[in-house]
Amino acid sequence: ALQASFVPNIKPRQRFPNQLQPRASTYKVAILGAAGGIGQPLALLIKMSPLVSDLHLYDIANVKGVAADLSHCNTPSQVLDFTGPSELANCLKGMDVVVIPAGVPRKPGMTRDDLFNINANIVKTLVEAVADNCPDAFIHIISNPVNSTVPIAVEVLKQKGVYDPKKLFGVTTLDVVRANTFVAEKKNLKLIDVDVPVVGGHAGITILPLLSKTRPSVTFTDAEVEELTVRIQNGGTEVVEAKAGAGSATLSMAYAAARFVESSLRALDGDGDVYECCFVQSELTELPFFASRVKLGKKGVEAVLSADLQGLTEYEAKALEALKPELKASIEKGVAFVQKQA
Ligand code: NAD
Ligand code: LMR
Repeated sequence: ALQASFVPNIKPRQRFPNQLQPRASTYKVAILGAAGGIGQPLALLIKMSPLVSDLHLYDIANVKGVAADLSHCNTPSQVLDFTGPSELANCLKGMDVVVIPAGVPRKPGMTRDDLFNINANIVKTLVEAVADNCPDAFIHIISNPVNSTVPIAVEVLKQKGVYDPKKLFGVTTLDVVRANTFVAEKKNLKLIDVDVPVVGGHAGITILPLLSKTRPSVTFTDAEVEELTVRIQNGGTEVVEAKAGAGSATLSMAYAAARFVESSLRALDGDGDVYECCFVQSELTELPFFASRVKLGKKGVEAVLSADLQGLTEYEAKALEALKPELKASIEKGVAFVQKQA
């Protein structure tokens, strides 16, 4: 994708939930892992979208009841359930957007990378099915560790000969949602106005909020920068610890994922003013994948925006250098996982 060096003017109407007049419901969305902690509230939020005509829910168990329940909501989309590998192909045929929150979540004391052994195989298998049945769909990867599961998806799609870098996204929207919330709280700002780009990856220090690029323009003391950065980086752990063994963020994640789906659908629908931070193939740094703000269009990533990375503070520039070795290792681990099985 092209790199663009401008900073978009984010308008309140780009916020989720979309307050625009309902347009024709024409898009088909599948959720893989739809009976889970994220999957269920995400399905509910997507069921509310006026842009969706078909909502396909897939899981290895317990998805029939979720679909029956949701199907009673008097919103336009038709909800269908699909259980187990034998029904996966039918779930995926014709989809415009496939969201993947399938996999195990963290418990206290674990890193996201501790989930690699289980989730790597789950993502690999599901993306193989996406490649076979709806290779043109936008693919939203939520399953952790995102820094590795996105490269896994890339390798699978490449092996199948259908990789389109513009259409594969690691979902990092929750980092932006958290950054916006925490900054608005700390600086007493009106929440709807706050926009903080978050770049890098989606684990620990690889999550880098660029507080100096906060809009509306606001100044932070060094102590505030340190405190906010650490809180945003540890937002996931904060929830994991509060849930005390019962899983990780599900509701805020569903909200964030629904915002990213809605943005993707608006882009598909021809809205020329859609921007989100996400983890994509990138030339902004020497790393092959990097989260940054991108412009979304009908064909996926229209441009990876470079402006946020210009004029960084010393703190941000150091943090950017510091995250690269970990992010690089996580990317390489994902690539190696698929390549060694080939
Ligand atoms: P969960 O255990 O509540 O739900 C996961 C669901 O995936 C379950 O319903 C399970 O049956 C299903 N599943 C397991 N294997 C599957 C397979 N092969 N095919 C289809 N479905 C399968 O977990 P959760 O809380 O919903 O979290 C899911 C994932 O999302 C975890 O890996 C978690 O770390 C990740 N996550 C990512 C972010 C992010 O910001 N990207 C945020 C929160 C959670
Ligand atoms: C999050 O950021 O909440 C997710 O990545 C889940 C986790 O394990 O922290």
